[in-house]
Amino acid sequence: MSRVWIPAVVLAAFLAACGKQGKEAPPAGGERPAAQRPAGLSPLFETLPATAPAPTDNPTSAERVELGHKLFFEPKLSRSGTIACNTCHVVGAAGVDNRDVAMGEGARTGPRNSPTVFNAAFLKAQFWDGRAPTLEEQAKGPIQAHVEMDLTPNEAVARLRATGYAPLFAEAFGGDTAALTFDNLAKAIAAFERTLLTPGAPFDHYLAGDSTALGPEARAGLALFQQAGCIGCHNGPLLGGNGYANFSHVQGSKDVGRAAVTKNAADNWVFRIAPLRNIAMTHPYFHNGSARTLEDAVSIMGNSQLKRNFTPEEVRQLVAFLHSLTGEFPSVPYPQLPRAFPAAAPPAGEP
Ligand code: HEC
Ligand code: HEC
Repeated sequence: MSRVWIPAVVLAAFLAACGKQGKEAPPAGGERPAAQRPAGLSPLFETLPATAPAPTDNPTSAERVELGHKLFFEPKLSRSGTIACNTCHVVGAAGVDNRDVAMGEGARTGPRNSPTVFNAAFLKAQFWDGRAPTLEEQAKGPIQAHVEMDLTPNEAVARLRATGYAPLFAEAFGGDTAALTFDNLAKAIAAFERTLLTPGAPFDHYLAGDSTALGPEARAGLALFQQAGCIGCHNGPLLGGNGYANFSHVQGSKDVGRAAVTKNAADNWVFRIAPLRNIAMTHPYFHNGSARTLEDAVSIMGNSQLKRNFTPEEVRQLVAFLHSLTGEFPSVPYPQLPRAFPAAAPPAGEP
């Protein structure tokens, strides 16, 4: 079920999408006429697009994607030289670490669970609290975070220069060795992340008119997902990732979510409505990793968001539906990383 990851093919798809740059994504079910949708299906559901448009200030190119691919796997971007983006967002494992909360430099843990990087290109805002507007902004966070990779922007740039990255930045961003900047580092990573998409889930086939793509239990779960009101929050191509809601289940906890971003007490315990693509693979659940299984997560959602106690059978149906959201993962190779030799001697204690 996996596609082979061929940068040239990915790029061709991107270039084809370039014409759409700056315009809105295609409307609900844009790839097929709405008439082919199975009856009773809400127009709030949308097919996951096979390409993600790039912003005008970071057009996708093969060189940028390839550089970002290396940087995503580059452990030198962490103080100890052992932690890469891929440590917590394992691309061979649905883009997560399956830990309750992430563990970074010095085995320090942060307060939050690692969300998947797959399809993050379609999120309206990044992080559980939506505090970064774009992938470009997001990528600068973990490198500097004390509990994640723990470097200053200057340190990150100096390390990449000593490691032999300067020519790759020059190729990807034009110009000379001055192209190796922290901003461009983030842009390259974002360009790579825009290739981490998982179209072709059974649910997408179903949306496109293949009524055999979902079994009876998943179809019952889909009906319940609409009828019970999950869809009121979890909608659009990611079934979430496009708005915020109060998560009353965590009321009183120290992590206040959105309020820390907006400084508005009304946003206490408000979190981004989680996207549900590939949700069967990204356990444990919630921003604090507190729900171990999808069954637990669904029951808690029913209680806290809809004031409804689902029967075990209803939970099974909803979970069966959520399993149909697992798409086709691209096969992402472990890249060859530049290693200048003899290396420009790093300062004492640095990898
Ligand atoms: C130590 C583990 C760790 C490392 C290393 C790490 N991340 Fe993350 N990542 C997280 C956690 C935890 C969050 C959620 C944080 C939050 O919401 O406050 C996150 C959030 C994200 C998101 C947002 C996804 C969403 O659903 O909102 C993206 C994209 C992302 N990381 C990409 C990266 C990139 C690129 C790197 C490397 C530069 C990286 N991460 C390094 C743990 C990590
Ligand atoms: C009022 C809005 C709202 C409704 C209704 C709602 N959810 Fe959620 N859902 C959220 C929010 C917000 C989160 C993120 C919680 C957090 O920050 O931990 C979430 C998270 C989840 C998660 C965990 C995602 C993850 O990556 O850990 C699942 C699964 C889920 N919802 C399923 C459902 C199902 C099934 C229903 C219907 C029974 C439902 N939700 C109804 C707002 C809602």
